[in-house]
Amino acid sequence: MIVTIDGPAGAGKSSISRRLADELGFEFLDTGAMYRAVALKGLRAEIDWDDTDRLAEFAKSASIDLSGSAVILDGEDVSHEIRTQQVTEVTRYAANNVGVREELVRMQREIADGKDIVTEGRDQGTLVFPNAECKIFLTASPEERARRRVEDLANRGEKVDFELILQQQTKRDEEDTQREVGPLLKAEDAIEVMTDGMTEVEVLEKLVGIVQRFQHA
Ligand code: C5P
Repeated sequence: MIVTIDGPAGAGKSSISRRLADELGFEFLDTGAMYRAVALKGLRAEIDWDDTDRLAEFAKSASIDLSGSAVILDGEDVSHEIRTQQVTEVTRYAANNVGVREELVRMQREIADGKDIVTEGRDQGTLVFPNAECKIFLTASPEERARRRVEDLANRGEKVDFELILQQQTKRDEEDTQREVGPLLKAEDAIEVMTDGMTEVEVLEKLVGIVQRFQHA
């Protein structure tokens, strides 16, 4: 069974999706981490970001292993590095690149093939797994999302300004929804869950309930 979770940045998708997968005994796929890993590879090579072909080649040649709890890029644990502000900033070059998307979508389908899996991103229910059995669109207000992001970064030891994060998030929302390939979009058959004012445990309980309805359907 495939459960897709899409939604904007900072809606708490990553940690909720991971916990949902644990709760269900499913595997988990963080597709944002894949775009971040390709961007990190580009950053390290000091790539010219206009060189879209080279970045697409990086996606093809990269070994990205998400099977454990860490993100392993070409044999190295980059779990923390891919979440830094610097990488977040340049990930759009990977996300807007048609060749990168083609390659990562292919990998995502290959990883999910025949598995019980929770897969999380922007285009999972629409483009990557249009036939997924259960689709969820997880969202929250922009302010709530920015507040959570600031908290999250603070927990990782990065001190950032709320207004700046909100501004960057608005920009990313625009880029995510207006992208020509794989834009952030709620699938017609996705169930929308608005998480403002809910604790993580409450959201988790709600999602488990939704998935169980489809499991027993
Ligand atoms: O979810 P996360 O914030 O880690 O995603 C990083 C970036 O990767 C997002 O801003 C988004 O633009 C992009 N992304 C994407 N398609 C996905 C997952 C993430 O374009 N399936």
